This record gives sequence, structure tokens and C-alpha cells, in this order.
Amino acid sequence: MRLRRKKHLDQRLEISQEYLVKISGNYPPNPNLPGEIDESLTPAEIFGNDNPTHLEIGCGKGQFILELAARHPEINFLAVELQPSVIVDAVKKIAEDDIKNVKFILTAAEYLARYIKPHTIERIYLNFSTPFPKKSQKNIRLTYSRYLELYKTLMVEGGEIHQKTDNMHLFEFSLEEYSKCGYHIRNISLDLHNSDFEGNIVTEYEYKFSSKGMPIYRVEAVKRD
Ligand SMILES: C[S@@+](CC[C@H](N)C(=O)[O-])C[C@H]1O[C@@H](n2cnc3c(N)ncnc32)[C@H](O)[C@@H]1O
Repeated sequence: MRLRRKKHLDQRLEISQEYLVKISGNYPPNPNLPGEIDESLTPAEIFGNDNPTHLEIGCGKGQFILELAARHPEINFLAVELQPSVIVDAVKKIAEDDIKNVKFILTAAEYLARYIKPHTIERIYLNFSTPFPKKSQKNIRLTYSRYLELYKTLMVEGGEIHQKTDNMHLFEFSLEEYSKCGYHIRNISLDLHNSDFEGNIVTEYEYKFSSKGMPIYRVEAVKRD
């Protein structure tokens, strides 16, 4: 039963190949293995234009990135997601509608340097990243210092991370990690939906949490060096 579902999933992704950024070789990619060549691309090579490029990590079903891309045809969007089963419908939608300014990368954030050339990304969105609440899991939170250093290598000078979460502990942890890694923190909101912030695009998880009355935390962290 599981096998049949997987086959179906592969077929659905197969028809949308041109909307996926892919590398060959091992998955997970292992840069230490001989023969693992650098296949990373610039956004210009991926999209065929010189528009600025924004990246969402952990895009889930893609609701946020598709809406953002429709509002901003002058920007390229790369959407990263670990689980193919989650984004298969979003990939199918951009293929059907022939949306030109979005491409998906099916990988874990830690492997992004294998896909994207350094210093090419203007902005990174982290929306409702999995909070991983146990202390022992802090090094897999997407705002752990190891990830923030990776994001610095991907982003241009002055690149920005825009983060939203419902989880106060993840939010506090993230603020500490941004400071530790030398990011400049700005525009903090402790209750986004009751603030004067304009143009917010509600994500799937944001809708789920805010409709239960939970406050949404938001911050921007700017790369300084
Ligand atoms: C809680 S969901 C949020 C989805 C969406 N951003 C939203 O706000 O509705 C977190 C998503 O991040 C993905 N994810 C978790 N760890 C990841 C990683 N290391 N790299 C890429 N995606 C990851 C999960 O598979 C999941 O789809």
C-alpha cells in the first residue's frame, strides 16, 4: 500500500520536473565523498533572469509562497521542503498554471549549499518552522546557529531573514541565536495580527494557530557581515 502511494507521488512529481531544482548524485548529498561535484546554481541559471531571489525554508503546502509570487512577479522564489508528499499539490499547481517565478527544492535545509551558489539570495522566509521543543533537539531548529551561519553564506550583504512563529520558546531561542551570530534584529512583533503590519500573507499553520486565538510572533534579522 505504502509503495503504491510512493509510486503515485513520484509520477505526480515527474510531470513537474522543470519546476524542481535538482542535483544528481547522492541524497543526502555528501560533499566529502569523492565524485560529489559542485552542482550548485545561481538564481540567474535557475530562472533565466537577474531578478532578486527570495527563499522560503519549510514551505509546507506552498500557500504562502504561491500568494507572494503572484503579488511579486518581479521576484524569483525558491521554496524548500523536506517532504515531497507535502508539496506535491503546490508543484502541480505551478506546473498547471505555468508560474515562472517559483521553483521548489526538495531537500533538507542543511543541504542547500549543494543547490544554490553563495551570496545570491536577498531574503529568507522561515514560517512556522518546526519548533523541536526538547533541549536535545535545539541543533535541528532552523534558527540554530549552524543554520544561521549557512544562511549568511547563501545571502547577499544586507540579506534579511523574515521569521514568523506561534511558538514563544522558539521565538526567544531564535532571537538569542540571531544576536549570537551577529544579525541585526528589527521590527519585532509579539502579536502580529493586532499590529500595524501591512500585507501579511497568512500561512497554513498561521491560520491554524491564530484561529485558536494564539498570538503570532514576527521578526526580521539582517545579515551584517
Ligand atoms: C510546521 S510546518 C510549517 C509549514 C508552512 N511554512 C506554514 O507556515 O504553514 C514546517 C515545515 O517545515 C518542514 N521542515 C522541517 N525541517 C526542515 C528542514 N530541515 N528542511 C526543510 N524543511 C523542513 C516540514 O516538513 C514542514 O513541512
